[in-house]
Amino acid sequence: MTARNVVLVTAATGNVGPHAVAHLLDAGARVRALVLRDDPNIGRLPQGVEICYGDLAEPDSLDEALEGVDGVFLMWPFFALPVDTAPAVLKKIEAKARRVAFVSSVGVHIGLEPVDNNCHAYIEHLLERTTLEWTFLRTTGFHCNAMGFAAQIRTGDVVRYPYGEATRTSVDESDLAAVGAKALTSDGHARKKYLVSGPEELSQAEQVRIIGEVIGRELSWQDVEHGAARQAMVDSGWPPSYADGALDYFATLTKEPEVGSNVVEEVTGTPARNFRSWAAERADAFR
Ligand SMILES: NC(=O)c1ccc[n+]([C@@H]2O[C@H](COP(=O)([O-])OP(=O)(O)OC[C@H]3O[C@@H](n4cnc5c(N)ncnc54)[C@H](OP(=O)(O)O)[C@@H]3O)[C@@H](O)[C@H]2O)c1
Repeated sequence: MTARNVVLVTAATGNVGPHAVAHLLDAGARVRALVLRDDPNIGRLPQGVEICYGDLAEPDSLDEALEGVDGVFLMWPFFALPVDTAPAVLKKIEAKARRVAFVSSVGVHIGLEPVDNNCHAYIEHLLERTTLEWTFLRTTGFHCNAMGFAAQIRTGDVVRYPYGEATRTSVDESDLAAVGAKALTSDGHARKKYLVSGPEELSQAEQVRIIGEVIGRELSWQDVEHGAARQAMVDSGWPPSYADGALDYFATLTKEPEVGSNVVEEVTGTPARNFRSWAAERADAFR
């Protein structure tokens, strides 16, 4: 890939997208961000990116964004959009691009997520049947998932959530984006299935304790029971099969910590950032 080749980032204004754009720009790529017309979060995107309007639900709307691209940093917004249009979207990508870095999940890596759950494993399955040079970023949870605790921490000292003892190897979303940017702008990553994790094992309750230390307050954890948590997730829009998958996985993580890897450092040359440094950077969101 030459330094000024064009890379399209999907789900560009979410948690990972702006970091992906920033790392790709740093690598010298010309970067396009795919955004919905009424996207309220467009301001999150770094300067220097080209905005392309398009909707993954309408594959033909991607034609302009895909014109002349070499790579796609592919994320599918599973909670907002079913995968019905994914085969047509991948056909469009295959017709134009050479490389794809797809943000997948640790659930696929450990065999917990079946292809017929219409989630990450399904898109991997589709990509494996293309001629694209794909790289799968099978990520653990993101540090920023802890933003889910923020509203409770701002208004009290107790976080009520399921499975406080679930121990994860969460990754900084910027580190994940950096791995994907490398995969799209350097050689040697085709057909690799990377397990991307952070550098440490921390339970959810430990994450909350660290947030408390960072903001100078003593915080505690109170478990919400599985059934009540499932109902709350479904009520807030989670497809039931995704809620079951997530909660069952969290239950297993109370017995055995999540798997981890050194992929961030191996691929980017920079050690993965720990949760405390993420929390320190985001401290104001918890005050
Ligand atoms: N969080 C985790 O622990 C975890 C673990 C494993 C894998 N992942 C994967 O990581 C990926 C990235 O997650 P994220 O947290 O960065 O995502 P996110 O914050 O939920 O962002 C979703 C993005 O997709 C956009 N979008 C929604 N519907 C769209 C459509 N029809 N067409 C085009 N764009 C659309 C949204 O735009 P608007 O702002 O306009 O809605 C937003 O920019 C996801 O695919 C997720 O499955 C996450």
